[in-house]
Amino acid sequence: METILLINGPNLNLLGMREPDKYGTTSLQTIVDRLTARAKTEGYKLLSFQSNSEGEIVSFIQHQGQKAKGVLINAGAYTHTSLAIRDALLAVQIPFIEIHLSNIYARETFRHHSYLADKAVGVISGFGDFSYDLGLMAMLEYLRRRPHV
Ligand code: DQA
Repeated sequence: METILLINGPNLNLLGMREPDKYGTTSLQTIVDRLTARAKTEGYKLLSFQSNSEGEIVSFIQHQGQKAKGVLINAGAYTHTSLAIRDALLAVQIPFIEIHLSNIYARETFRHHSYLADKAVGVISGFGDFSYDLGLMAMLEYLRRRPHV
């Protein structure tokens, strides 16, 4: 079975409790379970990873990125700061979709810039935990349409 990676960055382990007005009340585990089930019905294994550490995220991308078909990534605050995560995604040459629960363009200006967005297949931002479902749907469709390599 082919694999899609789901990567969550810092503080996303606190989803459900963390600033619920911005990020909702659904836990990360609930989101992961839902996406795992959906991916399975579409014939993919979802491999989920969350870390508060930039280096661990880079290492995960290096180790798993070569074997997987695509990445869904909510890099949290590292979206706005991490050249290293950008470089890791480019190094393994894997298609990725950037995800945010909140609409980062409706928030502080320092959240408007992303180190990932211009290299992403696309960006989904502002639909709460449904952003992840939209991201998976988009990746499945992207992989379906993409000529097999
Ligand atoms: C976030 C938006 C980021 O700006 C923030 O640092 C997060 C969460 C989102 O999902 O809306 O941690 O990525």
